[in-house]
Amino acid sequence: MVTAKAPGKLYIAGEYAVVETGFPAILVALNQFVTVTIEDAAQYGSIISHQYQENSLYWRRDGDELVFDNRDNPFHYILSAIRLTEKYARECGKPLGLYNLEVDSDLDSADGKKYGLGSSAAVTVATVKALNEYYALGMGPENVYKLAAIAHLDVQGNGSLGDIAASVYGGWLAYQSFDKEWLASARRRHTLTELLQMPWPQLNIELLQAPTNMRLMIGWTGSPASTSRLVDKIADAKSEQWGEYSRFLEGSRSVLQGMIEAFHNADIRGIQDGLRANRILLASLADLSGVQIETPALTKLRSLAEQAGGAAKSSGAGGGDCGIVLIDRGIDTTNLLAQWAAAQIEPLPLRVHEVQDSE
Ligand code: MEV
Repeated sequence: MVTAKAPGKLYIAGEYAVVETGFPAILVALNQFVTVTIEDAAQYGSIISHQYQENSLYWRRDGDELVFDNRDNPFHYILSAIRLTEKYARECGKPLGLYNLEVDSDLDSADGKKYGLGSSAAVTVATVKALNEYYALGMGPENVYKLAAIAHLDVQGNGSLGDIAASVYGGWLAYQSFDKEWLASARRRHTLTELLQMPWPQLNIELLQAPTNMRLMIGWTGSPASTSRLVDKIADAKSEQWGEYSRFLEGSRSVLQGMIEAFHNADIRGIQDGLRANRILLASLADLSGVQIETPALTKLRSLAEQAGGAAKSSGAGGGDCGIVLIDRGIDTTNLLAQWAAAQIEPLPLRVHEVQDSE
């Protein structure tokens, strides 16, 4: 039996711009996980999830392919991760197995609340990591990232894959996406083994150290948002208003470079100023696209946090989900938490996932 887990994440800054090649974002992984367990099976393989309304899927093999009856299942990311990792296992000369794969997640709550903590990325990474062990493929973090990124792209083509990086590496990180057009063309010409060996143009993942006096607070607005739909809407707007959009991109790059520098210098004020500047840029993107990034609940969350002395903004695509606050550890937040509660904002009691928590 093998077990692997991968953490959920939140975006701190750089959202939307990071979807384009060459524009950085900052993310943080959280100590809340998706766990995948794989155990040999006798007659049929299965995928069983204790989320997705306790769904299960049974499969067998036809040659190397998985065959299953129910195509209308919720396991798109898991199946994509299985296909890719098994393709790589075949290239490595490994005979394919028959197994039960069980998924457990604490990223969404037991009563079905969806917090937007990157569960699709975490389940993809946890599946690749579990199969890496099961087939003894010996992949390190970079190759797990690459396989999981391709598997995720095959299901949802419009993301930056920053959440995959956060799920693989943990902790705080600066992330810049690879060139997706290059990858699409390289995939036509190369085996997976070759793709994993070559550098991916523009990909940049740097682990960051947060200042010890900086605390991350997370508030949940209670309304889930669809990242993919919001990213598509921004993509529509960008072709119509390229000039303004590229000003947003350049502004985001310069703010993020400043924030990364502030992380290097353990400069909490610099990080907070960057967060606020990034929020204003995202507001300009919302204006030019008509997409509501900061909802009224997120505005409330932010203004209460700013009054308490923190720097705050939406996290990820916005439109609901979570808001984040970066605040000095010395500040007493009892009053802020009471004000959030009165405004129906739920504080999520999550810690930053430390890199060594990973295995
Ligand atoms: C969503 O979590 C963050 C976006 O930048 C999209 C992405 O990076 O894939 C809006």
